[in-house]
Amino acid sequence: MPAAIRVWDLPVRAFHWSLVACVVGLVISGNIGGSAMTWHFRFGYCVATLLLFRIVWGFAGGHWSRFASFIYPPSQVLNYLRTGGEIHQKVGHNPLGALSVFAMLGILALQVSSGMMSDDEISASGPLVKWVSGNWVSLATWYHKDIGKVILIVLVATHLAAIIFYRWRKNENLVRPMLTGDKLLDEPATESSDTTQDRLKALLVLAACAGLVWFALARLG
Ligand code: HEM
Ligand code: HEM
Repeated sequence: MPAAIRVWDLPVRAFHWSLVACVVGLVISGNIGGSAMTWHFRFGYCVATLLLFRIVWGFAGGHWSRFASFIYPPSQVLNYLRTGGEIHQKVGHNPLGALSVFAMLGILALQVSSGMMSDDEISASGPLVKWVSGNWVSLATWYHKDIGKVILIVLVATHLAAIIFYRWRKNENLVRPMLTGDKLLDEPATESSDTTQDRLKALLVLAACAGLVWFALARLG
């Protein structure tokens, strides 16, 4: 009898779907431009908060949310590729998925940082623009508009393609656990702790991250 194992704690699920909503909002508002840039900045600051939260939660969250549970040595990644994932346990991020998670988090961090230094030379300029040289602003704006945006879209498309591949080729539904938190497994596995206390701790961490972003923006003026 398969048993339901809590894999994704509520804070990671809330992080994921909030991140999706913000990134969609950022791409739409960035492409509309003009007065939509007010919302572009707001969504951008939310992503900054979410990324800080995820870093802390990577050390303080439930078992499968912790980075330690999905940092794999290169040999395991190669082995995973060689065997087509057959021998890997089905809990948490697999070695290839883990790489894509780190890539997405890294590229999002670069997109937020470059956005802070971007200037459309009309009305929207990031809060760091007045603190850095014109060369940096040109470089950051170019990266933000022409490079980072494209890399992010490619990574998200690959992310979605992998999810569809798992559904149709491996008959594994990855989306349901990201919604409900649980995977149905035949063998016993470690569960992620997801108690009310954990969730309150996550709220405190989130509030501290939002406070830090707000404080930094207030200092930048
Ligand atoms: C993950 C976060 C972000 C994503 C995915 C994102 C995405 C985008 C996109 C798609 C555009 C339109 C590019 C184009 O016209 O082709 C854009 C433009 C822009 N973004 Fe972001 N952005 C992010 C964060 C930020 C942040 C945090 C700021 C500033 C605080 C920012 C400031 C700007 C500015 C000023 C532009 C206009 C650049 C120009 O037209 O010259 N962005 N962004
Ligand atoms: C802007 C779009 C998206 C971004 C930036 C994004 C980003 C991420 C990130 C960072 C993770 C790792 C979660 C963590 O451990 O913190 C993740 C996992 C996941 N995402 Fe997304 N995601 C996006 C869209 C979607 C969509 C639309 C779906 C569903 C249709 C989805 C389904 C999943 C699933 C199922 C996982 C867990 C994968 C696994 O089992 O290892 N994502 N995503």
